[in-house]
Amino acid sequence: PAASLLELGGFKMAKDDVVRDDPTNNVPDSIFSKLGMQLHRRDHHPIGILKNAIYNYFDTTYVGKFDKFDNLFPIVSVKMNFDDVLVPEDHVSRSYNDTYYVDSQTVLRCHTSAHQAELLRKGHTHFLVTGDVYRRDSIDSTHYPVFHQMEGFRVFTPDDWEPSGMDGTSYAAEDLKKCLEGLARHLFGSVEMRWIDTYFPFTDPSFELEIYFQEKWLEVLGCGVTEQEILKRSGKTNNVAWAFGLGLERLAMVLFDIPDIRLFWSSDERFTSQFSKGQLGVKFKPFSKFPPCYKDMSFWINDYFTENNLCEIVRGVAGDLVEEVQLIDNFTNKKGMTSHCYRITYRSMERSLTDDEINELQWNVREQVQNKLNVVLR
Ligand code: PHE
Repeated sequence: PAASLLELGGFKMAKDDVVRDDPTNNVPDSIFSKLGMQLHRRDHHPIGILKNAIYNYFDTTYVGKFDKFDNLFPIVSVKMNFDDVLVPEDHVSRSYNDTYYVDSQTVLRCHTSAHQAELLRKGHTHFLVTGDVYRRDSIDSTHYPVFHQMEGFRVFTPDDWEPSGMDGTSYAAEDLKKCLEGLARHLFGSVEMRWIDTYFPFTDPSFELEIYFQEKWLEVLGCGVTEQEILKRSGKTNNVAWAFGLGLERLAMVLFDIPDIRLFWSSDERFTSQFSKGQLGVKFKPFSKFPPCYKDMSFWINDYFTENNLCEIVRGVAGDLVEEVQLIDNFTNKKGMTSHCYRITYRSMERSLTDDEINELQWNVREQVQNKLNVVLR
């Protein structure tokens, strides 16, 4: 059951302050109950172990001391989360479909970049911010609506880049890639990785680092050279900076061989007892793989249907018993009606599920999908 009073970073919040009766609020109880769990502050949890190992890399290998923050409040203004990092007014990440809004001006941060501007304004020039972040998303073994990021930010002055003969931007981009490749080696020893050019509103150029895991390329971080406008707004007109945002679960899955992202939330001793403080990359031994159960459901969608809304309903009913929600069929008939068929995979990480239990979950899902999404079941 969700704690009704949340104490976090010196703040106290009642559940009603978050799961608020506001027409723009889309934070369900299942998400509220995750606020304040702070997996990244547990030294014996894979996420905390990884955070400490990254701290260790920056303390020992990279020149310059980084200020560290891991207790910044996860409920932030729209301004901090989006405006301050130059996210355009019409960017998808601002939509109610992608982000949890407490009210029209307040969100559960969807990235740790939400703290860049505030820390710059306070005068920090080298910093790491670790925290829980929240995104509405689809359901599979590497996606969960709450996960953890570490933001890195480093400001350079002309004294840093001028001796190199390079311009500030090229210098910062090179330093950034070296720093992150060094980090990857520090964490993994050797691992297959590749850089991809990409776009972020707050950096230019922008890159993603991908790591090869379970026969797939997995995106583990985004980074780039900070847009001048962000520095300018905090009074820095003669500087260049880089920034990165690491997904801690993704990295931890690869490092510890954790096959499913839901496991990070498990309090089953067979999971938690396998990790200890300072022990990076101890391979997780699955205690058992229980059988999956598949349930298909088909319905005619309407104009408002989104997969994220469907997934939230399934997660709300089945919690961590749902492993995947996958679109397996999609067609439009002559009248222009579109039908979707989704396959829901139910599987517990901890025990065998009974047929009765799964049938009941599935009936609940069907009922709520029909009532809340106003789709027509087939
Ligand atoms: N905030 C970005 C994300 O969550 C990651 C990022 C951070 C990219 C800093 C560039 C610079 O995807």
